[in-house]
Amino acid sequence: MKALILSGGKGTRLRPLTFTGAKQLVPVANKPILWYCIESIVDAGITDIGIIISPETGDDVRAKTGNGDRFGAKIEYILQTEPAGLAHAVKTAQPFLGDDAFVMFLGDNLIESPLQPFLQVFKTKQLDALILLRQVANPTAFGVATVDENGKVLQLEEKPKQPKSNLALVGVYFFQNTIHQAIAQITPSARGELEITDALQKLIETKQKIEASELQGWWLDTGKKDEILEANQIVLDTRLTNQNLGEVDSNSNISGRVNIGKGSRLVNCKIRGPVIIGENCYLEQAYVGPYTSISDRVTIVDTDIEHSVILSGTNITGIHQRIVDSVIGKNVKISRSPKRHQALRFLVGDESQLEII
Ligand code: G1P
Repeated sequence: MKALILSGGKGTRLRPLTFTGAKQLVPVANKPILWYCIESIVDAGITDIGIIISPETGDDVRAKTGNGDRFGAKIEYILQTEPAGLAHAVKTAQPFLGDDAFVMFLGDNLIESPLQPFLQVFKTKQLDALILLRQVANPTAFGVATVDENGKVLQLEEKPKQPKSNLALVGVYFFQNTIHQAIAQITPSARGELEITDALQKLIETKQKIEASELQGWWLDTGKKDEILEANQIVLDTRLTNQNLGEVDSNSNISGRVNIGKGSRLVNCKIRGPVIIGENCYLEQAYVGPYTSISDRVTIVDTDIEHSVILSGTNITGIHQRIVDSVIGKNVKISRSPKRHQALRFLVGDESQLEII
């Protein structure tokens, strides 16, 4: 059994963060989303992993994630030269996959459940494909399944305008090698991509064994800012452990679950967990409220912030009008002069969003 993780694409919905990095590397609770996928695959006992990368962000993904040693896995990188669809990615990975069965995991999806029980069903029932479904409020944004009362999959459609159900395809699929013949039979969709949903539909039409399991627990598809914040909130809520490897002065006040990395220093701060602070950060006179993740080498002085994600190297000074619901990129500088502010002065990159509220 192998695993294929898709970490290509252009991440247009997460610009400007994705101008300089892959969307799958955006951190949730200070860990790249992609790494949660890898860990969940390794937890299910699968260690032979291929990661699909794009020409734009592939080097970054490879440099950060490495050869798999840190996960106890063997990782091979597979270049998909154009974002031509999920089924195209499987086609591109054929030399890596060979005749093996595999789990395919979209690198921007996070799920709460372990993979092992699904893998068990897939193997015991000797299925050609096992898909995971989840009820959603906006099925037009997903692949949608029609299922009969016994759970048999009758039809699959990619982003239908008139969805026949509210059951969306989660970005985790288990396949036998028969998927390759199905992919060979499909043509690009209206959006110009080879859709895995169409290949699955071919499996149904050719009477292969395909079943669906309904996913319990949370599922997050982290394509946009608010989804990153939601993922950050849920992961901090459910997985954060208390730890302090930094230095906190006696004037600081810390409550709730808070994790502080080594080399970080807090002076006269109020921290209300769940909060994670990375390594080598400096915080002074700061209030950091619930559901905030602060990456490495961040400086926060004289500032109030909560329910936000801050990437590495960023410096925020003098902002007491509380920063909320924000995702702030790498090496950003935000400051307000100690004098009365009469004007706002910006140097803001393309596709940034600033809301003065
Ligand atoms: C892809 C699949 C879709 C699935 C979704 C889950 O959509 O094509 O069927 O429901 O992932 O995240 P995309 O992210 O390419 O829009």
